[in-house]
Amino acid sequence: MQCKEQRERFKAHDTQEGISHRRSIVRKEALVPTVSQFPPRTMWEERYGAEEFIFGTDPNDFLRENLSALGSGNVLCLAEGEGRNAVFLAENGLAVSSVDLTETGVAKTHRLAAERGVVVDAVTGDLADFDLGIEKWDAIVSIFAHTPPAIRIDLHRRAVASLVPGGIFLLEAYTPDQVGRGTGGPQVPELTMTAEGLRDELEPLEFLIIQELKRDVIEGPGHTGEGAVVQVIARKAK
Ligand SMILES: C[S@@+](CC[C@H](N)C(=O)[O-])C[C@H]1O[C@@H](n2cnc3c(N)ncnc32)[C@H](O)[C@@H]1O
Repeated sequence: MQCKEQRERFKAHDTQEGISHRRSIVRKEALVPTVSQFPPRTMWEERYGAEEFIFGTDPNDFLRENLSALGSGNVLCLAEGEGRNAVFLAENGLAVSSVDLTETGVAKTHRLAAERGVVVDAVTGDLADFDLGIEKWDAIVSIFAHTPPAIRIDLHRRAVASLVPGGIFLLEAYTPDQVGRGTGGPQVPELTMTAEGLRDELEPLEFLIIQELKRDVIEGPGHTGEGAVVQVIARKAK
């Protein structure tokens, strides 16, 4: 399938998901998602079923620019999709684990790792109940890991507990301002994140970077232009 055609299909899919979800918001008056998977796993499996990597095979820019902040220990990549960030970190000497909802994404992660001659401990799991452990990770990486708020808030609390003292949490996500831009990302504000919200959710981490900005996010056919993002690098006290 041509890139443009595929982009249109994804855009339409996002929009449809957004509309049906907004209808359910109206019906229920408040958005309190009861499922951990919105959009559902099947949508991601379908997207990742394509031969090409929908977010590309290069790492996320914010992660690449801040690689040195992560040190050289072990790292867990949340909602890692097809593995581009995990593989990049493994290529740079970190011991990398990753988790994603999809079997197709995890299979692509293993494939990309093998092609690059590195190992990633990539597993399928739902972040709603995935065991992150306690004081286990030197770093946690969360790139466009958009889940319903009830899941995200609990996930972030568990992520903080799972960092070793001095551990680093790195995140980039779309903000509500991304909705309607047509350049990718969730099309319902409730799935997006803000700096203010993340300050609360990641307490008591010390924030080294926490900012909202617009930047070009060009990552495969999935992320295709200027995006409104929030970026965080935060450290757990020693
Ligand atoms: C926009 S993609 C980002 C993928 C990857 N982090 C990247 O930057 O290339 C969002 C990912 O979140 C995953 N995801 C969504 N809900 C999840 C959940 N409850 N548990 C685990 N992964 C989830 C999807 O399978 C999808 O791979």
